[in-house]
Amino acid sequence: MEHTFWLDRWQKSEIGFHQAVAHDFLERHWSALGVPKAAEVLVPLCGKSNDMVWLADHGHSVIGTELAQSAIDQFFAERFRTPAAVNQAVFTVSRAGPYALWCGDHLALDPAVTRRIGGVFDRAALVAMPHTMQQTYADKLAALTPSGVPVLLVSLDYDPSEMDGPPFPISPGRVNELFSRDFRITLLEKRDGLNASQNLKNRGLTALQEMAWKLVRR
Ligand SMILES: C[S@@+](CC[C@H](N)C(=O)[O-])C[C@H]1O[C@@H](n2cnc3c(N)ncnc32)[C@H](O)[C@@H]1O
Repeated sequence: MEHTFWLDRWQKSEIGFHQAVAHDFLERHWSALGVPKAAEVLVPLCGKSNDMVWLADHGHSVIGTELAQSAIDQFFAERFRTPAAVNQAVFTVSRAGPYALWCGDHLALDPAVTRRIGGVFDRAALVAMPHTMQQTYADKLAALTPSGVPVLLVSLDYDPSEMDGPPFPISPGRVNELFSRDFRITLLEKRDGLNASQNLKNRGLTALQEMAWKLVRR
């Protein structure tokens, strides 16, 4: 998507993707990844997600990337934290407590920033990318993820004739196509996701599969 699409969404507070609580796949599957407790975790396209709070509450420091400074400002304001901000290359980095949120284009992030991460959590990041951008996103994820480090990926699949993305549908075959060169892939869970997604139901979906994947960087 164009950057302006997302900046506009944040400006108008049209953030139906934002969840009031952390994603339940984190609760259920994070421990299976074996990420060391104090390790840094990358959350690409982080928005102001409560997943970052869950990760911090479980001992991690969090590196988030996000286009919209207002999302980052809201994240800290809602937690009564005042971040210190510095400019680093094409990013503005806001830091407070366990969080370092990098405002800018995720695809421009220098792999030096993530060289010490012990894990990645992707919810609504890959699926925010249109088909033409997905391989670029997957290649960037490979570049940012050190060898042996796991990713917990949440993907969605649905009939594209029922709704225009984002979120965009990602079939299991597509996960394989995007990631198998650089990651070992395990499907952890597949479930019916429609009842938990009133927002997407309202947009016309009659069926939705939600999947949790463990990807380990080769
Ligand atoms: C669908 S939302 C998901 C946000 C978050 N992961 C969550 O679960 O609430 C996608 C987010 O990615 C941000 N975004 C889109 N493209 C981006 C890019 N190229 N670099 C950094 N952030 C981006 C948008 O501003 C938006 O906040």
